[in-house]
Amino acid sequence: MTGYDEGELPIVIDKAIGALDLARKVRLLTGAAMFALPAEPAIGLSEVRMSDGPTGLRGAELAGGRKSCLLPNATLLAQHWDVGVAEQVGELLADEAAAHDVHVVLGPTINLHRSPLGGRLFEAFSEDPLLSGALATGYVRSLQARGVATSAKHFLANESETERFTVDCAIDERTVRELYLLPFEMVVTDAHPWSVMAAYNRVNGTPATEHGELINDVLKGEWDYDGLVMSDWFATNSTTASANGGLDLVMPGPEGPWGDALVAAVEAGEVAEETIDEHLRRLLRFAARIGCFPGEPAPRTASATPDSPPTRQRLRRLAAGGMTVLVNRDETLPLTASGGPIAVIGRHAFDTVAQGGGSAQIRPPHVVGIADGLSGALGAERVSVVDGVEVRTRPIAALPDAVRDPETGESGMRVTARDASGQVLESRHVDATEVEVVEDGWLGSAASIELSAELVLDAPARTRIGVRGPGRWELTAPGLREELELHRSPGPGGGLHRPPARGFDVEQSPGARINAVTRADSGMRIIGLVAAPAPPSDDEAIRAATAAACESEVAVVVVGFTQEQETEGVDKTTLALPGRQDELVRAVAAVAERTVVVVNAATPALIPWIDDVDAVLWAGLPGQEAGDAVAAALLGEVEPAGRLVTTFPAADGDGPAWNTTPTDGVLTYAEGGGVGYRGWAGREPLFWFGHGLGYGTWRYESAEAVAEHGIARSARVEVTNIGDRTSREVVQVYARPADPDEPIRLIGWAGARVEPGRTATVEAPCDQRVQRRWDPEQRTWNPLPNAELLIARGLGDVRLTLPLTEEN
Ligand code: BGC
Repeated sequence: MTGYDEGELPIVIDKAIGALDLARKVRLLTGAAMFALPAEPAIGLSEVRMSDGPTGLRGAELAGGRKSCLLPNATLLAQHWDVGVAEQVGELLADEAAAHDVHVVLGPTINLHRSPLGGRLFEAFSEDPLLSGALATGYVRSLQARGVATSAKHFLANESETERFTVDCAIDERTVRELYLLPFEMVVTDAHPWSVMAAYNRVNGTPATEHGELINDVLKGEWDYDGLVMSDWFATNSTTASANGGLDLVMPGPEGPWGDALVAAVEAGEVAEETIDEHLRRLLRFAARIGCFPGEPAPRTASATPDSPPTRQRLRRLAAGGMTVLVNRDETLPLTASGGPIAVIGRHAFDTVAQGGGSAQIRPPHVVGIADGLSGALGAERVSVVDGVEVRTRPIAALPDAVRDPETGESGMRVTARDASGQVLESRHVDATEVEVVEDGWLGSAASIELSAELVLDAPARTRIGVRGPGRWELTAPGLREELELHRSPGPGGGLHRPPARGFDVEQSPGARINAVTRADSGMRIIGLVAAPAPPSDDEAIRAATAAACESEVAVVVVGFTQEQETEGVDKTTLALPGRQDELVRAVAAVAERTVVVVNAATPALIPWIDDVDAVLWAGLPGQEAGDAVAAALLGEVEPAGRLVTTFPAADGDGPAWNTTPTDGVLTYAEGGGVGYRGWAGREPLFWFGHGLGYGTWRYESAEAVAEHGIARSARVEVTNIGDRTSREVVQVYARPADPDEPIRLIGWAGARVEPGRTATVEAPCDQRVQRRWDPEQRTWNPLPNAELLIARGLGDVRLTLPLTEEN
């Protein structure tokens, strides 16, 4: 157990630094492994362990690791517009961190939703800096109050993925300050994350990992940040420039651009030894905060309970409460618990997408599919379930229950590592259908790896069998023998994120044996087996869907994106739903009495059939309790009280910032401060930021503001629930600056849960940091007085306007 007096810590740290020679100091400034930092017993520094983040704990393994609780994705959580929700998330993650015995959660992600094409938007809260900063503050405070460090990422301007390791984001200084730095400024000032992660990209010509102006001058200087700045994984490409630019820690390790090269740079006088000491001082302070210095952290007692009833209940509410009712004609929603037959249609109803792809991906104990959730809630006899059209180009890994280990009969597969002569090095049961191959792992030195399993089927069936992961493969199953090569995506992490996959449809019997052998392949990768029922053709699916819709009172069509669109490492090229999903919705809507569409996607999609359907529920990526949460929201057991956190365009190309493809390596943020709703003035998007109907009906009156010289401190309004259900209202306060060239912006909000017929007085504090303007010449902030405040339910539904004068 650590034991030091806070006041004595600087002395303890300086003494520790003084006890190490240069090489030993430098060694501590690069990770020891993928997700761990080196221990140094000589000074009482114990190993620090990290895990992604941001809305689930993956642990040290990239795939096939321990199961842990899968929360709703960041946008779905953000759609609550509730800092209390961010705090609950921190609490859940802190329990998981203790159970996994990790000290650092690599989150929150607080880059902004600049272009809706951004592949990683699902991981970040919003297009709005104030909402992002406030939610990040709740998240960080809550985790750190429980002794778990956070890492606010990615500092800075990592808004899209195309050419992500090299892209140079060209952004004017005012926009950097007023938009992209703001969530970081808020979280650093208000919650003090113990670490910040420097991004892959460049900002105005300089790599983020070497950006002295951003790291040394702004973050550590102006904001007085005393935490640790670590690099994103494999992001550091220099020695001297990064060490002098303010980066404290290179991740991962033990290889990397610092080590001996940094020792030599110090000896050559290119980096001052005091700079090394300062990096180490921050590292030791960080380690002290999580109990890893001086001495060993206290043993943790928490046990993981990702599938305990209270956790499941909580996750269901977190997911359902953030879901957003976009359209609800004639009060189609909520559905009634009893009534006529319901058809549940769509690939996402079975293969529900619970999380986005990339480093944020974790292994949940289960995912409740939407078809199962609705059948459970409405009664299987009332529900008919029909598969939809194809939505993926690459098959996903088999569900663990779809296959069993041929030796033990347990769910999952057998993984056998062999040397070059074919001798078995090791053979293990793995209770998953994907495993990681990493240099220091048990498969790292194998010349070949065999994945074998038997199919679990009730009866003979046409089955899709295949493999995932880059490399050369020999795949065999009854009636199937294929040799194939799957290629990795370029760049670091290319074998991990977006693994290539191939499947073959063959008639199979229960117990059929699948063997897949892959030869040694340099580099990290995730490999796995594919085994699932062969899907119907799109034409068959549409025919079956319309037939089922004709027989039902309500057709619930579930559509969405998959991890092929919403993932780290790649941006979208269109917001159109993949495959023939739009056609499916239209075909169903044309024949169904009533059509409800559930969209299983985190970030804007095109909804061209909006006028043809009766209701649309935006369900996000709902996490492990997905199906139960959708059922709770559709039935109104939990109000889907979400409000959009990003503006939805009506067509591809529409919106202030669209392109994410750099030109000659440069991505120019030409829209400047007009990001998201701020850039839509004078035009109508499909849905405004802040839109969401919930199940309530509201009257707004008696608005008042407390303001001085046009700067609002708070706004208050009375809201009356004139509907017939208890509902949560989110009162949003926007400011229209007196300078007509300045965009409208969100300056505050507050939520209230109100019973039917009751009135609540809602008071929204207004943040000063969005009512100021950066002066690049004087390098200082000036107040930005407002002409009026708009009290709104989203920018498309402004209820009251409050003029401000010089006096108020
Ligand atoms: C991501 C980070 C993540 C890191 C470690 C990188 O690819 O950009 O967000 O924390 O990997 O997995």
